[in-house]
Amino acid sequence: MRFGVFTVLSIWMLFAACTKKQHDQPVLADTPDSLYIQQGDQLIAQTFDTLSKALIAAVNAGGFAHAVTFCNEKAYPITNTYATEGITIRRSSLKYRNPSNRPDSLEAAVLNDFLFSEAKPRLIRKEGIVHYIKPILLQPMCLNCHGKKGEHILPEVQTAIDASYPDDQATGYAPRELRGIWHIAFAIK
Ligand code: HEC
Repeated sequence: MRFGVFTVLSIWMLFAACTKKQHDQPVLADTPDSLYIQQGDQLIAQTFDTLSKALIAAVNAGGFAHAVTFCNEKAYPITNTYATEGITIRRSSLKYRNPSNRPDSLEAAVLNDFLFSEAKPRLIRKEGIVHYIKPILLQPMCLNCHGKKGEHILPEVQTAIDASYPDDQATGYAPRELRGIWHIAFAIK
């Protein structure tokens, strides 16, 4: 039985991006946690990869100030592709830059927990949805746009951030600090 569910889900995930008929293959309530974690990790890795490549290309083309407008997952089709399959992927943070990344109540609860206990991935089943939440830690290169104002962030980068995000809260971070979370929600059919 486990093998059956595993096979169905794996094949569904494998082709989810390419075909529309996959709605017939349900994400089942008895699908084991390990599979959601595996699929969640894969989606996060893919999205991170897409974002990183776009970011690096933008930095190379016009520097960090130019890249500010490119660090946005909504600009990339991967999010929409999975949304049609009942899977949503988003990033959130207690100190957010884009107001649309403001935490919902579940995200805020987990983010607050992460401040007081070790930030580790979590799987939460709630009201027909499986939530996979994974911490995002700051890396040294992120300081260019999320580090201390006037120290890590160049004046032209700060100007670009202020222009697009007048209420930005996402600065002042140090390497290894918790920057936010990935949140993947799988709707159970
Ligand atoms: C070129 C500047 C730039 C760099 C470098 C950068 N970011 Fe961002 N980051 C942004 C911008 C701009 C946003 C707002 C994106 C949006 O509008 O959705 C953002 C948003 C985020 C968010 C979503 C929550 C929020 O604050 O809205 C997270 C999480 C995040 N960044 C983490 C990182 C991490 C981790 C790194 C390093 C691996 C990084 N960023 C590097 C500019 C940058």
